[in-house]
Amino acid sequence: MSLTILGIESSCDDTSAAVIRDQEILANCIANQDVHQAYGGVVPELASRAHQQNIIPVVEHALQTAGVGRNEIDAVAFTRGPGLLGSLLVGTSFSKSFALAQGIPIVEVNHLQAHILAHFIKEPGQNHVEPQFPFLCLLISGGHTQLVVVKDFLNMEVIGQTIDDAAGEAFDKCAKVIGLGYPGGPVIDEKAKRGHSTAFAFNKPRIDGLDYSFSGLKTSFLYFVRDKMKEDEEFVVNNEDDLCASLQKTIIDILLDKLEKAAKSTGIKDVAIAGGVSANSGLRTALHKAAQKNDWRLFIPPFKYTTDNAGMIAITGYYKFRKGMFASQSIAPQARMRF
Ligand code: KG4
Ligand code: ZN
Repeated sequence: MSLTILGIESSCDDTSAAVIRDQEILANCIANQDVHQAYGGVVPELASRAHQQNIIPVVEHALQTAGVGRNEIDAVAFTRGPGLLGSLLVGTSFSKSFALAQGIPIVEVNHLQAHILAHFIKEPGQNHVEPQFPFLCLLISGGHTQLVVVKDFLNMEVIGQTIDDAAGEAFDKCAKVIGLGYPGGPVIDEKAKRGHSTAFAFNKPRIDGLDYSFSGLKTSFLYFVRDKMKEDEEFVVNNEDDLCASLQKTIIDILLDKLEKAAKSTGIKDVAIAGGVSANSGLRTALHKAAQKNDWRLFIPPFKYTTDNAGMIAITGYYKFRKGMFASQSIAPQARMRF
């Protein structure tokens, strides 16, 4: 039986709707929220209001793009968490109402699991190579940094994670220190391309095992910039590209060090990345080198499936539907959620 799923994502500051038929993506529409840029970070209350405004137009756009009528949708999959509660409430309530009106089931989706399952989204008419289970996935977003052994579509084990800040937070917070906009990751990525990555050195954490830490780097970066600015007020302006390149290199080194350790200790050769930070071009280059050195099969998602999108929610909903894992109308969103 062919399955058509409407996916809804509203966990943070992107309102997104997608349509998937079996594993093929028919539409993946996203409304970004520019309103947060002026504040240097996501303002939860403003995010909820913007979701409320965006959700109906985004869903209609997705259905139109897919050329799919409401009556052709078999189920609605939505992000239950983790995320901002007010934002999640908009997507959850919309999904319940849509499903009630159509008389179809709802499927709750864990946003983190969905980032990883984005690797299984197929583009119509294109050849698709998927990672084989068990594979290792480095999940790096604005809120999470985890090393995950993916044993099956819905069976994942976290074997390492950050004990403080996430990798995306390190990018965003350091970008704020030098006056770059929010989110800082993409801006640092662009500027780093023009800078020298060995111009400056910042502290790397010494954490045993497979866990990460990024709060020390953030502090080291902050103090370094503050001290340099005391000597020269123009320091940041004159060294922006080098600062970005050196910071990015440090974050990449930290990420790859534990990823290589994890691959060695598990013996897994299919290695994937997922989440917003996996859009980083420096990281992608470094990963290709690491893959060659370690004989990995490397899986990097297309840019459009790295940051938050409903395509990943719909594909996760597809696999849960196949297993009969439906949610009841009394389900509530959860700000915190584990795998
Ligand atoms: O997965 P995502 O869209 O949202 C969360 O679930 O958190 O990730 C957002 C994070 C932000 O911290 C953003 O700065 C980072 O991904 N990001 C990047 C790049 N694009 C997005 N970080 C580094 N380089 C990029 N090109
Ligand atoms: Zn995300």
